[in-house]
Amino acid sequence: MTFLSVNIDHIATIREARRTNEPDPVTAAAICELAGAHGITIHLRGDRRHIQDRDVKILRQTVKTKLNIEMAATEEMIGIALNVVPDQVTLVPELPGEITTTGGLDCTRNEQAIVSAIKRLQSNNINVSLFIDPAEPQIRAALGLGARTIELNTAVYSDATLTNHETKERIEALGAVKQAAELAHSKNMIVLAGHGLTYRNVRAIASIPAIVELNIGHNIIARAALVGLERAVRDMVALL
Ligand code: PXP
Repeated sequence: MTFLSVNIDHIATIREARRTNEPDPVTAAAICELAGAHGITIHLRGDRRHIQDRDVKILRQTVKTKLNIEMAATEEMIGIALNVVPDQVTLVPELPGEITTTGGLDCTRNEQAIVSAIKRLQSNNINVSLFIDPAEPQIRAALGLGARTIELNTAVYSDATLTNHETKERIEALGAVKQAAELAHSKNMIVLAGHGLTYRNVRAIASIPAIVELNIGHNIIARAALVGLERAVRDMVALL
């Protein structure tokens, strides 16, 4: 069985669209946990476009499974993590203005910043995961930097599944994730994966034995908006 950590950023995106107080990611996290999620993931961005500092603080107290915070390895973010002490921090690259995380961390560069972040977080009992592309040099570099957990970026595979055909790109992208997962697993790393996974493309990734946990956000929240819409309209009509 593959574990599921639900990324609830886009519950906060809906709230921030009106700068109001609902939907509350804290409530969403509880619902995800009651439904069987094995973890809750949030990305605290430098621009605070969705998750807010208040969410991080309250979720630390309320999440009963595993709280994973995605963040850039900046001084500000590492300070917040050391203060909040989530179960796990996933270090991701963050580009100003990007719609979503666009690629994995380049572990062959910025080594100093990554190593320092890993050491400070690990020495405070926070598990550190590095979000990296499924490529051998990145896995070897991540290992050299002291990472014990990695999250393989499935974005290329996910993009290749947007058409429903079994294309060459799709087969190659899946092969790259599988190969990377097996290499990391053979080095005793804990292998997670995610980005762009959907109800249609997830099974091929979930069937890779070396991958123990998937991190899925947008497609789950997208489905929730649609499967919940009929009930929401009925509830409003009943009030009128
Ligand atoms: N993993 C990482 C590192 C991410 O940045 C994201 C997006 O926040 C995800 C997984 C989840 O991606 P998606 O929302 O496309 O499921």
